[in-house]
Amino acid sequence: MRFDPWNPDFVAHPYDVYRELRDTEPVSYFEPTGQWLVARHRDVNAALRDRRLGRSYLHLASHEEFGREPEPDFQEPFWRVIRAGMLDVEPPVHTRLRRLVSKAFTPRMVEELRPRVRRIAGELVGGFVERGGGDLLAEVAEPLPVTVIAEMLGVPEEDRHLLRPWSGDICGMYELSPSVEAQHTAVRAASEFAEYLRALAARRRRDPGDDLISALAQVADEGDRLTEDELIGTCVLLLNAGHEATVNVTGNGWWSLFREPGELERLRGDLSLLPSAVEELMRWDTPLQMFERWVLEDTTIGGVDIPKGVEVALLFGSANRDPEVFDDPDRLDVGRRDNPHISFGAGIHFCLGAPLARVELIESFGALLRAAPKLELTEDPVWKPNYVIRGLESLKVSTG
Ligand code: HEM
Repeated sequence: MRFDPWNPDFVAHPYDVYRELRDTEPVSYFEPTGQWLVARHRDVNAALRDRRLGRSYLHLASHEEFGREPEPDFQEPFWRVIRAGMLDVEPPVHTRLRRLVSKAFTPRMVEELRPRVRRIAGELVGGFVERGGGDLLAEVAEPLPVTVIAEMLGVPEEDRHLLRPWSGDICGMYELSPSVEAQHTAVRAASEFAEYLRALAARRRRDPGDDLISALAQVADEGDRLTEDELIGTCVLLLNAGHEATVNVTGNGWWSLFREPGELERLRGDLSLLPSAVEELMRWDTPLQMFERWVLEDTTIGGVDIPKGVEVALLFGSANRDPEVFDDPDRLDVGRRDNPHISFGAGIHFCLGAPLARVELIESFGALLRAAPKLELTEDPVWKPNYVIRGLESLKVSTG
């Protein structure tokens, strides 16, 4: 098999292909998308920290400069929302936007949320066990992070069911060469989401609460620190990034444990391993398989000269199995000590929500391990057809 993000067999089992890439051609040209694939940990890590590479090609002077077609006009409402968030901008705008919200996500602030996260996890798992199981993904993995991030931002309970479909549709645009239909769906979702948040922010202006949207709406009103578009872009980013990968780590993580029952038993027998287990599950089956960067100035990656204007695809899933960095990298080891996985990225865009994700994952895995000692799979799960944001369709289990 070769690198083929549109092939379901590759999506299900990418790791042998990655090994071959790392061994034979760690920086390789991928004709179908015109990107350079970067497979080794040290090159991915260095590229994420290299300021000659950026998240957005808008830093290149013109489309002609990198020989690409401009984006079609119909996508404009999508990019207007997405490019107003911190993930798709560079300093100094990035620094300003990240600073406005970073205080809410520090390890200390997040630690204060732990009792609330634990209570939500306990309630979800309690109901799940009472029903004898079901779809772990839909009934535990999704509602936990959606509830937590919606509460932080102040999205009313009755509207929260809207978040997951909007986020899923928007994420469709991040896959490699999305279909025209997926592009239209993503544009529609981004527009609806933005409109919803505009109305919510207006309500919070009139009647502020103790939540992030109220705080950001106030900052936007105070002067030149946050535009209205940036306010919307920031909220969309936080609400989407705030649950999408966490859901997949929970689903992929349980599926990994079911495939490695010895490690599941080891973890059950010693819950003090939960923090290292969560890191290892994120390494072993990486939820975000790939992130892209634009080359803003000629550079060299892994000894290969890469010219300004092209796009590189950083293969996180491959970096996380690199034997140069991880002992016995294909082995799932819930007690792994030295684990510098790249699943949260690196450099200036390092995941803002990493401390929150860790608390949510530890609490949710912990709650299920404690409450459902006989948890077992009732159906083999199927991967969604997505490569970049990789997760399962569902995860059917019985709690015994
Ligand atoms: C950025 C992964 C959970 C908010 C990132 C990036 C990665 C990542 C890889 C960097 C992307 C790049 O460099 O191109 C993950 C994973 C998660 C997770 C694997 C779950 C296990 C969260 C949560 C939040 C969050 C819970 C909640 C707020 C963000 C934000 C950024 C980001 C705002 C952009 C940071 C910036 O551009 O400075 N995440 N994330 N993430 N993540 Fe997460």
